[in-house]
Amino acid sequence: MAMVYLDSNATTQIHPEVLEEMMPYLTDQWYNPSSGYRAAKAVRTAMETAHEQVASLIGADPEEIIFTGCGTEANNAALSFLARVSARQGGQCRRVVTSAIEHSAILRYGEYLQDQEGFVLEKVGVQPDGRLDLEAYRDALALGDVAFSSLMWANNETGVIQPMAEACEVARSAGVPLHSDAIQAVGKTEVNVREVPVDYLSISGHKLHAPKGVGALYIRRGLAFEPMLRGGGQEGGRRSGTENVASIVGLGKAAELMKSRLDADGHAGVARLRDHFEQRILSEITGVTVNGSMDYRTANTSHLSFDDCEAAGLLILLDEYGVQCSAGSACMTGKQKPSHVQTAMGIPADQARSSLRISLSILTTSEECDAAVEAVKKAVGKLRRVQGGPGVGPVQIFT
Ligand SMILES: Cc1ncc(COP(=O)(O)O)c(C=O)c1O
Repeated sequence: MAMVYLDSNATTQIHPEVLEEMMPYLTDQWYNPSSGYRAAKAVRTAMETAHEQVASLIGADPEEIIFTGCGTEANNAALSFLARVSARQGGQCRRVVTSAIEHSAILRYGEYLQDQEGFVLEKVGVQPDGRLDLEAYRDALALGDVAFSSLMWANNETGVIQPMAEACEVARSAGVPLHSDAIQAVGKTEVNVREVPVDYLSISGHKLHAPKGVGALYIRRGLAFEPMLRGGGQEGGRRSGTENVASIVGLGKAAELMKSRLDADGHAGVARLRDHFEQRILSEITGVTVNGSMDYRTANTSHLSFDDCEAAGLLILLDEYGVQCSAGSACMTGKQKPSHVQTAMGIPADQARSSLRISLSILTTSEECDAAVEAVKKAVGKLRRVQGGPGVGPVQIFT
């Protein structure tokens, strides 16, 4: 049975054009880009092209991009630097202001800063539609003593796009350095660092059809930065370690591909498929709720709750019926607790436990969406029959 993959916020397949671009750097072009002979020059040039491609996707200059080992590293490198700078100022500026819906790659680092480094982590709440409470954010920054702030551009569970232009304006007026985890936004929606001038911004390759294990950090020109990894001085001394050339070339190509799709139609094709899927689900299955803002969300994501169906049971049935998707975010799979994102949005616990995250990509087809609708109908029908009435309770699945 061919599986339908609808979990692209967890990871994406390497796009065939990306793989093709990478292959020479996994075979004949294996040289170390720092070597002096002519053959290595071609590898260096490919790295330069990748800097240009990634920069172009977000409206930056190539010198403002450094490649990292993953999105988590980009996030940690930015936060670790910003915390160290603040710590050196000696006792001042101990507050780190973020949001309640960040990915663990921000929250766990923030908790580390709080538990081990004497900072105070403050998580600003969101509105029921999953968007940052801007008034609360403004109030939090107005209190002063803020070391730095970090806000995600789009949420990994709901796809909800955050009011980054407004938040960035608030941070700039308050003189607070702002980092953005834009890992779920870059390539999926317009992200332009000239128009929304965040100071630091993280990207991850595997969310946009490049390989896993490669990311990038944007560092605004003129801003200070000190590396987390010190050594051979690669990436202008800002991230040492011999470069993962093939993956970096792949990230560059993926950035170019996603930019061309965004420029062509703003991912209208993906949004059409997602909307078609969602409309069919809403009209053909009773008791379904769409969670989060429908006006501000990435084109590929649909976060749905199914009354009287535990998501854990739905996932097992859907896998059997040929559909791969997620309950909440990938990191939450297997846990029966509502995620921190759903809790922050005030989604009732039953509704949260019965929610699925469906996330498409530019490789998803309309046939796959229709097949997925049929599978969801079958799985929901079965679970509701097994549970025998309203109320989410323990689920036994008989297949
Ligand atoms: C919003 C967000 N931030 C950070 C990460 C971590 O990125 P990586 O898997 O490249 O370390 C992810 C991936 O799940 C994410 O969705």
